[in-house]
Amino acid sequence: MFSGLITAAYIISSIFFILSLKGLSKHDTSKQGNFFGISGMVIALIATIFTKNFIHAKILIFLAMIIGGLIGIFISRKIEMTKMPELIAILHSFVGLAAVLVGINSYINYSPFLYPFVENSIHLTEIFIGIFIGAITFTGSLLAFGKLSGKISSKPFIIPYHHKLNILILVVSFIFLLYFINTSDQKIQIILLVIMILIALLFGINLVSSIGGADMPVIVSMLNSYSGWSSAAVGFTLNNDLLIITGSLVGSSGAILSYIMCKAMNRSFINIISGGANNKNIIKTEDLGKYCEIEIEEIVNLLKNASSVVITPGYGMAVAQAQYSVAKITQKLQQYGIKVVFAIHPVAGRLPGHMNVLLAEARVPYDIVLEMDEINKDFVNTEIVLVIGANDTVNPAAQEDLNSPISGMPVLEVWKAQNVVVFKRSMNSGYSGINNPLFFKENTYMIFGDAKTSIEAILKLI
Ligand code: TAP
Repeated sequence: MFSGLITAAYIISSIFFILSLKGLSKHDTSKQGNFFGISGMVIALIATIFTKNFIHAKILIFLAMIIGGLIGIFISRKIEMTKMPELIAILHSFVGLAAVLVGINSYINYSPFLYPFVENSIHLTEIFIGIFIGAITFTGSLLAFGKLSGKISSKPFIIPYHHKLNILILVVSFIFLLYFINTSDQKIQIILLVIMILIALLFGINLVSSIGGADMPVIVSMLNSYSGWSSAAVGFTLNNDLLIITGSLVGSSGAILSYIMCKAMNRSFINIISGGANNKNIIKTEDLGKYCEIEIEEIVNLLKNASSVVITPGYGMAVAQAQYSVAKITQKLQQYGIKVVFAIHPVAGRLPGHMNVLLAEARVPYDIVLEMDEINKDFVNTEIVLVIGANDTVNPAAQEDLNSPISGMPVLEVWKAQNVVVFKRSMNSGYSGINNPLFFKENTYMIFGDAKTSIEAILKLI
């Protein structure tokens, strides 16, 4: 009776998770999506407590949930939006570690003599693969966390014979797996398992160390996918349908997100994980000519005489927390009858949908927030583009310079507008660490300083 109820609870929470993903895929249903996600998780947690028969196990699970939940609330209240990718990376490392520990635990508690050969082989394969993916996810995510948080250099570091080493690790692990399921000697199994864990930990490091700069988001979403697959493998090991379903949802959505990002950067996934794009030439600043500065009063004049304005926000808007001032200036310009729209690059900021979340926070209406493909053709008819803390996502080198590390990445073609005003603090490069010829174009004007301070100064005069 109880097991039937638990299965029903798991099915209901799986449905909630699927609805959650559906809701989160659109701005206007994202709150609903969040609600479904929370509800699914609450049902899953309650059901999990009832999977155990002993009261002390129930109490331990309950306590672990309370402690974990409190830590989660504390971190999520404290963390800034700009630090989300590193938080996601460290959370993935926990999933990886959990998969390794659960796998080892299942192996210890498993009695192979009770099962026929085929069933035994399947179970041992699940354990082996779960631990393998978990270990890769663990070290890969830890390294990604270090790189994203600036604790270690984010520059790509390619270990000698990088590709060959990866292939060797995969082949050796496969051979180990065959031995692992075919031997009945437990000592040999343990040795194989320990060596496999060590080489999988190395594999995780080797996979992420060669990646850096603008490719990091792809690797974070790829690790997200790995963490999903390792949860699904754990689900098979524990015979837990909910873990299999949610693991597969996370695994496939992470893979789809990686694909979308690769498309947005015009890069092949293989090219990114092999760390192949960062060894090209970077244009030197002295070859770019001179840039032109502009004063606040001049920007106000330009805006007052314009009929169409496009705002392209980037990571700098998030750092400056300028979204509220940007929303106010939008309203002000609209009151003057000026058409204002936002142009959003798929990888602007530091996480997918970063700009959309900030603009939604500041209550900018969704219908004036346009995606790159919708807006690129309109820049030629635009009088002013305000580039607020964006850099790589508006870099014309992606189209004009075949030697650029971002060559071929689709960008917002802001330079096609009549005037471009760039809000940033210095001539420093963006995330990918390369110069931006946009700043040196004849129709581009630089306004230096914190984006929020500059926008508020404009607001006062307008
Ligand atoms: P970036 O190229 O990173 O440039 C941001 C610019 O903002 C910098 O040049 C910086 O210049 C300026 N800035 C920083 N603080 C500022 C402040 N307080 N006021 C004004 N300006 C400020 O930004 P982007 O165009 O949004 O591109 C995003 C980059 O991040 C891409 O390379 C992308 O691949 C990568 N990335 C994206 C994601 C996702 S999924 N969105 C995740 C990780 C990485 P100053 O220092 O001179 O002010």
